[in-house]
Amino acid sequence: MLGVETSCDETAAAVVRITDRGLPGILSSIVLSQIADHAPFGGVVPEIAARAHVETIDVVVLRALAEAGVHPVDLDGVAATAGPGLIGGVMVGLSFAKAMAMALGKPLIAVNHLEGHAVSARLTQDVPYPFLLLLVSGGHCQLLAVSGVGASSRLGSTIDDAAGEAFDKIGGALGLSYPAGPALERLAEGGDPDRFPLPRSLRGRAGCDFSFSGLKTAAARIAGRLTTDAERRDLAAAAQSSIARHLADRTRIAMLTYKRSAPVSGEREPWEACPAVPPPRFVVAGGVAANGVVRGALEALAASEGFGFFAPPLIHCTDNAAMIALAGAERLALGLVDDLTAIARPRWPLDEAAALSRPTHRAGRKGAKA
Ligand code: KG4
Ligand code: ZN
Repeated sequence: MLGVETSCDETAAAVVRITDRGLPGILSSIVLSQIADHAPFGGVVPEIAARAHVETIDVVVLRALAEAGVHPVDLDGVAATAGPGLIGGVMVGLSFAKAMAMALGKPLIAVNHLEGHAVSARLTQDVPYPFLLLLVSGGHCQLLAVSGVGASSRLGSTIDDAAGEAFDKIGGALGLSYPAGPALERLAEGGDPDRFPLPRSLRGRAGCDFSFSGLKTAAARIAGRLTTDAERRDLAAAAQSSIARHLADRTRIAMLTYKRSAPVSGEREPWEACPAVPPPRFVVAGGVAANGVVRGALEALAASEGFGFFAPPLIHCTDNAAMIALAGAERLALGLVDDLTAIARPRWPLDEAAALSRPTHRAGRKGAKA
């Protein structure tokens, strides 16, 4: 399966092979970052992103095929991110994939980018369905019960910003360039996370939604009056540990809900029927899952709540096309293919029913930004 990913600021293509047995083979995975193009603006500029995708998509796809040693006629299908994301960029990748699928006479699979993140741990580890998923990236922060290919139910979501956005904005206020998450993690090394008290959002509040805007604003305000490197290091450590703690606090509630809602009579989940078989699984995915403190907090939580812990290797946490190829291959195996009428969608919730009944977005600027 060829995978194409262009939903944000990475032009990516990959070739993945799945067989009936064992883990998928990642034959190639090319990620061309546009970070340098956007850095002067302190964030991703949609128009610049779309143009950069147009300029490089053909080279990136050809390189992925060449590195994989796969001729296009030998592909079983072409999968591309069809949303959610920056619409101009999504249209570039999806149109390119449609053209290839049409020219080759192969199936097209229009993949939800979030479904790609959801399967990213399955690229390199045996993580059978079902599992509880925390998806934490620059544009998303949500908890989902994933029961199978393309089947998930949302347990919670951010009511304002995504966790990655909090890292990026706080890092920006500390003078780090975009995307500031990885640089903030390096800055925080050896810092004192207790020196600057930061607000604990939604503390004691039921449910497992997230909120990062209060923390983001408080940290950015403190950053503005710091004068020494030691202070900056301590604030970075405080922000990072607050984000990790908030993610773990809300995920704990989701774990309790997930365990309680496991099917009863007849359809018992294996961990309910027999304690000797594997425990429920917890997966963390998305760019913020690359953060060591976040991973550590979630791994400890999983251990204390009796969940198996899975996180993709760092290169598969951030955006890549191997995860899109795998999501496409899993869909193709079930006959879930699309045709050339597939559209690019700027917003595309994984759990469409929850998005309709409990929307996090409303008309105009109302509702969650993430
Ligand atoms: O999944 P991703 O590549 O793109 C989206 O789909 O959004 O996630 C990018 C986000 C950025 O906000 C970036 O700052 C954050 O992930 N990120 C990190 C780290 N690596 C990437 N945040 C904290 N620590 C990291 N090591
Ligand atoms: Zn992503």
